[in-house]
Amino acid sequence: MCGIVGYVGPKNATPILIEGLARLEYRGYDSAGIAVISSDGALEVRKAAGKLQNLRSTVATAEPEGYAGIGHTRWATHGRPNDTNAHPHADCSGNITVVHNGIIENYAELRAELLAKGHTFRSETDTEVLSHLIEDALASGASGLAEAVRQALRRVTGSYSIAVISRDFPDRLVGARLTGPLIVGLGDGENFLASDIPAILRHTREIIILEEGEIVEVTRSSFAITDIDGNSIEHTPHHVEWDIEAAEKCGFPHYFVKEIHEQPHAVTRALLGRVQQTADGPSVRLAELDRLAASGALNQVRRIVILGCGTSIHAGILGKYAIERWSRLPVEVCIASEYRYADPIVGPETLCLALTQSGETTDTLAATRLAREHGAPVIALTNVVGSAITRLAGAVLYLQAGPEISVTATKTYVTMVTALYLLGLWLGERQLTLAPEEQQRMLTALQALPEQMQRVLESPATDEASLRELTAYLAGRESCMFIGRGAGYPLAMEGALKLKEISYIHAEAYPAGELKHGPIALLDPNVPLLAMALNSHTYDKLISNVEEVRARDAQIIAIASEGNSDIAQHADYVLTVPDAPEPIAPLLGIIPLQVLAYHVALARDCNIDQPRNLAKSVTVE
Ligand code: G6P
Repeated sequence: MCGIVGYVGPKNATPILIEGLARLEYRGYDSAGIAVISSDGALEVRKAAGKLQNLRSTVATAEPEGYAGIGHTRWATHGRPNDTNAHPHADCSGNITVVHNGIIENYAELRAELLAKGHTFRSETDTEVLSHLIEDALASGASGLAEAVRQALRRVTGSYSIAVISRDFPDRLVGARLTGPLIVGLGDGENFLASDIPAILRHTREIIILEEGEIVEVTRSSFAITDIDGNSIEHTPHHVEWDIEAAEKCGFPHYFVKEIHEQPHAVTRALLGRVQQTADGPSVRLAELDRLAASGALNQVRRIVILGCGTSIHAGILGKYAIERWSRLPVEVCIASEYRYADPIVGPETLCLALTQSGETTDTLAATRLAREHGAPVIALTNVVGSAITRLAGAVLYLQAGPEISVTATKTYVTMVTALYLLGLWLGERQLTLAPEEQQRMLTALQALPEQMQRVLESPATDEASLRELTAYLAGRESCMFIGRGAGYPLAMEGALKLKEISYIHAEAYPAGELKHGPIALLDPNVPLLAMALNSHTYDKLISNVEEVRARDAQIIAIASEGNSDIAQHADYVLTVPDAPEPIAPLLGIIPLQVLAYHVALARDCNIDQPRNLAKSVTVE
């Protein structure tokens, strides 16, 4: 989290930085700031706590004009989200400023050392030590800004992507990354730095994705990349094919609802090139795994561990149901932040599936690194090309969902499950545990999914007017319970997460059979129950659990399969979706839950795309 942008070129940097930050605000919105070297050589800093709009207002009263600058949007880690702690952070002289995404883990000892040397600190942030370390390096004779940054970074442990400017070197930006993302944008007589492509896509499609530990020095007409020791490194620019419209709202009021509507297309893309038609019917083709498979690394695999956080872990739990069923390999699903400190039993016999839509989640990276260090082969599932997780993996399955801007995940969830299912079918075929007819039934169902999802989006289950009464009812609740069995349980978990993330209603998910072992005590007429009642072999058991709750006067909202004539007698509200095989049905069932969360959040006047306290990618522990 935290977004960085930098510009050097012939235009006024300020509007370019502000526009870039607007596209990065999903990475954090506790504060925003810019620093610009003005034409008369002054280093002008503007910053404001809160949303980017506050910075816009600050800038409007006195807009700095200059040809080089850096900007930052913050998700606070060290130091409260106020004006003083907003980035950029200057050194003692005010000649150098730094913006930073990540955490400097040894900042306390560095700060003490710098204070003892006479440096003056203004903020509570870990970042500020960087400005003072660079100042020190220059004072001790470093040969230029890039060299001073290299010397400073050698003192630092932790994770970072940074951008630096100095009024003593007014024609350049210096950037560096370790764990955090940073790209260089190559324009015509102008160059850019950014955390993410949308920030600079209006200006250039030629980009370089910096690798771990690299430092770049950028002027308007050149760039030079080195490692931390100053050895130069060659990179070939990458041409971005997708355009800015793909990352914009296209007439929808919020990215969240736009991305919900993009799910059919996203799943089509996730399947693209991965399902082949043969004379015997469809079959899975995952060319991305060829090299890993050919290396023999999968031959000893006897079990699977799935690592992730948040929505990715919910995708992982669905993946477990399907992969175990198809491959007969035992699958353990572990929350990355727990796994990394749990001294796990892992080795070459364990295939590690690292799930992270952003590819940047620190806990998932660390847990995956641990598994890899113990010899586990790693397959990453991520949406972001070139993200950090791809470097830890022996193979990568890209979700191909297109950019997801809303903090709350939708299309990356359904595409992650789709990719996991393809992988499960691939493993089943490899293990000789999956009957060809079952594989074809599943692939046919996956291929039908985009069209079925589209039907859900055009049905009463997602229609605002049809949902109005239910929306008003839920918007007035303090608490909700979600239940499901089998694949319906992870669906309940993801449905509850959507509701709590954007409407701030307390929502808990339980396996339906567990309800009577405690949580049922929470139910009363004011705590509704959302039951995942899609067709499945445990449907009747679920209905028994629903009836136990009805007996306690709770309102029941059911997500059910089309054609179910039984459910109406058990529920107060029923939202139906097309029927599909049991593992696949949750990908349809999630859509009304996403849409419902959206309308309830709107009714409660919540911030849809940037819910309080959340960030799209979490690059801290
Ligand atoms: C953050 C986001 C969640 C997301 C989680 C994992 O907490 O707010 O929506 O599910 O990170 O993200 P990842 O990129 O690793 O899938």
